[in-house]
Amino acid sequence: MGAASEVLARTAPLYDRVKSVVLPAEWPSFAEDIDAILRLKRERNAVILAHNYQTPEIFHCVADIVGDSLALARRAMDVDADVILMAGVHFMAETAKLLNSSKTVLIPDLHAGCSLAESITAADVRGLRERHPGVPVVTYVNTSAAVKAESDICCTSGNARAIVESLGVPEVIMLPDEYLAQNVAAETSVRIITWNGHCEVHERFTPADVRQVREGHPGVVVLAHPECPPDVVAEADFSGSTAVMQDWVARNHPARVLLLTECSMSDNVAVLHPEVEFVRPCNLCPHMKRISLPGIRQALEEMRHEVVIDPAVAVRARQAVERMLAI
Ligand code: 13P
Ligand code: SF4
Repeated sequence: MGAASEVLARTAPLYDRVKSVVLPAEWPSFAEDIDAILRLKRERNAVILAHNYQTPEIFHCVADIVGDSLALARRAMDVDADVILMAGVHFMAETAKLLNSSKTVLIPDLHAGCSLAESITAADVRGLRERHPGVPVVTYVNTSAAVKAESDICCTSGNARAIVESLGVPEVIMLPDEYLAQNVAAETSVRIITWNGHCEVHERFTPADVRQVREGHPGVVVLAHPECPPDVVAEADFSGSTAVMQDWVARNHPARVLLLTECSMSDNVAVLHPEVEFVRPCNLCPHMKRISLPGIRQALEEMRHEVVIDPAVAVRARQAVERMLAI
């Protein structure tokens, strides 16, 4: 057997897993990188964490730990291996480093950013505190470590309301996602001061998109991520983080579902639920899509790009993330 056919034979069980969403013609090039990545993980004593928006050949074939932002943060804390490679965006790699600082944390592409993280700086947070003295700052994890360091506590889309209400105060500043903050405000009596950051993926969905899909696909259940504008969430049947959406599908087995979120999410959930019809539209996140199998392979071969956080920033940012995880 030649080297290429040996690789195909070794990776055949993995192709079986993703064959509903990966074309046969695509597989040989994926297989070679996957085979190399599995070997490199053993050599480097590395684990790969992958967000739900990673493509199926990453999510289902090389990742050791998968989930939403909250699950990835929690699981990063307990990683015992020497190296954590984040198949996700930069703030997720920073959060893993904050929570498990003795490990080498790698991100395959330093430019895998986030429009929310870019919408606010540490100086902006200090300005908000001056304008609203004494009001606690709840910061979405989709931010830099420097912004987290200026915050009282972090939240994710999976726990935002619980975090806001845990503080026992009448008013909070919630940044930087204006829509997430407005969606939480609609469910709580706590007053919420917002910032004007938006996710460039979720802000593009409109109520008209939802109505159009309902007309063309009778009986479709619509699940919206809370980074969508409030008028889109109002048109949906249910709203929740990527993990909450996945759980909803697993528990309810809808005949047809529309996930108003990033495109790979539907592919990854579809692999697990062939009985469910996943209706589009979806939007691609250009930052998440900077992560690829060749990029992961190169990152493990060359041990780059290592995530480094200024220790003075890290100590304060870690407190905000750990306070969240304690709730
Ligand atoms: P969750 O996976 O926490 O729902 O976050 C979505 C997101 O946009 C992450 O970048
Ligand atoms: Fe940021 Fe939105 Fe991309 Fe998530 S989907 S990384 S929130 S730009």
